[in-house]
Amino acid sequence: MKRIILGIETSCDETAAAVVAEDGTVLSDVVKSQVESFIPYGGVVPEIAARDHARHLPEVVREAVRVAGVKLQDVDAIAATNRPGLMGALLVGLMTAKGLAWSLDKPFIGVDHLVGHLLAVFLQRPGLSAERPSFPFAALLVSGGHTAIYRVDGPTLSAVRELGATRDDAAGEAFDKVAKLLGLGYPGGPVVDRLARLGDASRAGFTFQPALRGPNSYEMSFSGLKSAVARYVELHGCETEQARCDIAAAFQGHVVKILVEKTLSAASAEGLSSVVVGGGVAANSALAARFRERAKAFGISVFIPPLASCTDNAAMIAYAGAVKFAAGDLDTLELAPNTRTSLLTVTRKGGGPRAPKPGQRKALSS
Ligand code: KG4
Ligand code: ZN
Repeated sequence: MKRIILGIETSCDETAAAVVAEDGTVLSDVVKSQVESFIPYGGVVPEIAARDHARHLPEVVREAVRVAGVKLQDVDAIAATNRPGLMGALLVGLMTAKGLAWSLDKPFIGVDHLVGHLLAVFLQRPGLSAERPSFPFAALLVSGGHTAIYRVDGPTLSAVRELGATRDDAAGEAFDKVAKLLGLGYPGGPVVDRLARLGDASRAGFTFQPALRGPNSYEMSFSGLKSAVARYVELHGCETEQARCDIAAAFQGHVVKILVEKTLSAASAEGLSSVVVGGGVAANSALAARFRERAKAFGISVFIPPLASCTDNAAMIAYAGAVKFAAGDLDTLELAPNTRTSLLTVTRKGGGPRAPKPGQRKALSS
């Protein structure tokens, strides 16, 4: 009999629970998004997020178990995101998972949310045939909170190495900020994507030179681009629908180019023939199109999982938990939440490149 894992995810603004078999088959995947609560604020408010998780998690867990057609007592282990994320939000999911594990006398497993995203490509959702890559592969994780390129040699923490990340804003955060500048509301990604399809980037005409252009640097930066849009809007305005579409197209074109070229160059330099994309921005239509087109030139296969596996969900946490479970890598109930990832990082956010240590591969930049 396949073992089944209950996963719980509350690191940011999605309250989620899922039941997943150890081979990645998704038996249930319940996500209650808080996005509506944050429309008036234009972004996530940590205190409200934590309270919303506390309010909704019990019903979300019950629903996940019900849809999976199992009883809580039937799950073989309980996994929860313990890092990275908002402290109050993480605490709710982690404490709930620990309480369940303790009372049901089941193994407990803490999962790094980013590892969950990196393994989400292995989830098998009913009715969706998902191609699975083999290790090693390069992965671009691109969301509202993270933007980084990894080399993934296997499903464990020690087998994942960051090749480069954003030094400032995450790409999704840049989409959200530009949408705000254009008066398009929150979250910005989907609406910028939609308008960009109706726009002509050359008409918006703002020029932008990415700051980190070194051929061997996989670091990225999006805050300069956001400022270029702000300056352009200040000078030229964005009153007409066409102007907003043109600006959206120009902005999106730059973001997509940076993400795709950096990722494919990193994969190629590492000798990797597969690229996996994850995170909410993977929903961007231009990103998928450019990846598919440019990957051919690099001779690389690109795997973009179904959207439900790209955005925050608990199925990926359950699966990452299942991998740890299979390896006997369990956690105790003392496991603490942490706002930072446990993955080794090479990019210093908001700072200059970190000097490579003696003997360390020179991963940084120009
Ligand atoms: O992974 P996710 O659901 O949540 C976290 O950030 O963890 O990603 C949400 C982000 C938001 O910044 C949103 O604006 C962006 O993904 N996003 C998109 C699109 N759909 C969502 N960005 C660009 N194009 C899209 N179609
Ligand atoms: Zn995420």
